[in-house]
Amino acid sequence: MKAAFDAKRSPVLHRKESGYSSPPCYAHEIAPDYFGEPPIMSAEEIVRFLNTLLEAERAGAKLVAALLSEHEPHTPAWKRLADVQRDEAKNCAILIDLIERMSDTASPATSDFLRKALAVQGKAARLQLLNCAQSWVARMINEALPYMEQGFVRGPLFAMQESHLLNIEACEELAKTLEAGWQRDPR
Ligand SMILES: [Fe+2]
Repeated sequence: MKAAFDAKRSPVLHRKESGYSSPPCYAHEIAPDYFGEPPIMSAEEIVRFLNTLLEAERAGAKLVAALLSEHEPHTPAWKRLADVQRDEAKNCAILIDLIERMSDTASPATSDFLRKALAVQGKAARLQLLNCAQSWVARMINEALPYMEQGFVRGPLFAMQESHLLNIEACEELAKTLEAGWQRDPR
């Protein structure tokens, strides 16, 4: 029988939490069954994980909506953000569908990240916060995928991770452009 997934025993999560120390330094933290059959996430753990992602994606979609309202419509920056928002909204729909296919209920909540991000002033600063959230989502998916067996969940999550990586690059470029503009015209 396979062991249940336990994030505290995940060598990947341990490594990241301890700041990517060199391999010999974290060898003692590796779960006993790491090199054998990997532990898997239970259905309950997967739903909890999907709901956490859903709340984060909902916050992302709302944050990008706020950013869009601060940009001149149909400019290159606005179009790039609109693409990101389309992906965030699509991810919410995908996550809700996955949770329902797991015969469970999707969370109606939005991550508290939104409130914190909207309290920050400045387009570039908000974009950087958005990218922090996008990086967090991509990392969480990357770390959880090895512990999931359900193909119908793995496929969409892998695609979601890929789209986040592309959007992170796009938002980084946009933030640089905004920062350069601010330095030329700091109003
Ligand atoms: Fe996202």
